[in-house]
Amino acid sequence: PRTPVNVTVTGAAGQIGYALLFRIASGHLLGPDTPVRLRLLEITPALGAAEGTAMELDDCAFPLLAGIDISDSPDVAFDGANVALLVGARPRTKGMERGDLLEANGGIFKPQGKAINDHAADDVKVLVVGNPANTNALIARSAAPDVPAERFTAMTRLDHNRALSQLSKKTGVPVAEIRRLTIWGNHSATQYPDIFHAEVAGKNAAEAVADETWLAEDFIPTVAKRGAAIIEARGASSAASAANAAIDHVHTWVNGTPEGDWTSMAVPSDGSYGVPEGLISSFPVTTAGGEYRIVQDLAVNAFSRPRIDASVAELADEREAVRALGLI
Ligand code: NAI
Repeated sequence: PRTPVNVTVTGAAGQIGYALLFRIASGHLLGPDTPVRLRLLEITPALGAAEGTAMELDDCAFPLLAGIDISDSPDVAFDGANVALLVGARPRTKGMERGDLLEANGGIFKPQGKAINDHAADDVKVLVVGNPANTNALIARSAAPDVPAERFTAMTRLDHNRALSQLSKKTGVPVAEIRRLTIWGNHSATQYPDIFHAEVAGKNAAEAVADETWLAEDFIPTVAKRGAAIIEARGASSAASAANAAIDHVHTWVNGTPEGDWTSMAVPSDGSYGVPEGLISSFPVTTAGGEYRIVQDLAVNAFSRPRIDASVAELADEREAVRALGLI
């Protein structure tokens, strides 16, 4: 039998954790041949709830689940981690300014980055889900100088999947026949879902839609504000779809993108498309052999350019803010 892969999940007792852990344990993260050991990180008051979830995981008798450890210490939880899913974060509460939010999250992601640096496995892959995800990933990455920078990624796959679904509804083409959609920039309301390179049933998506008003006034805001719409409708933020996207992100990173397609991941910029180096920004990426590459040389048109630039400018502002706070 294969050696289990250590998967560390932070915020394990939260709502995304509850939707995520069972799918990891049943083999959806890494595939049906890979046993996993779960390492759950929670804050001390939530350890009991994490225990309860672990009891339920036991009760599923998942053949691939090799064990569950629970800790409130990042040093313990990230020890030997091959995959680290950073879900737990400090949410924005009423009256909280952006600076307060970044500072509170710095207090979480800086020590976690350091623990990953000091204790994770050499091949660790990190996905930050907890918001503000891109900048939290930046903070964790800067606290982990010994880990290759490209291993720190943030999640825009939920935005990508939301965009696929909206485009499918508009065109009547099933999601399985849509390729090459891109989310650019920040996982925030400024994100830019781009269909100009996308294909629906083999045809260019923008030409198939041929409706720039729909694009600007319906599609883009619907995708960008979907999180708020879910909260409004459900009375709680998206959890199962976020967990699903985290599974997709890591599964694609490990197992590769299909020939002729790509996905969206927020990854440290190498300067591509004018995105300042080091910002963790969403790009179109292909993956193979456990590594990703930013898709190069796409033409960026006059509709897309200012939208990408605006979201990237927001990321640059967030980087300045966390720099000023001494978090990076
Ligand atoms: P939740 O509040 O239900 O759970 C968060 C959990 O994290 C709690 O159990 C809390 O005790 C734990 N936690 C807090 N600080 C921690 C620390 N220092 N170490 C370990 N655990 C810690 O929240 P939910 O719904 O599970 O969402 C988690 C995060 O994911 C939020 O920041 C949310 O905004 C974000 N999110 C991101 C999405 C994306 O597309 N990137 C989509 C949806 C949510």
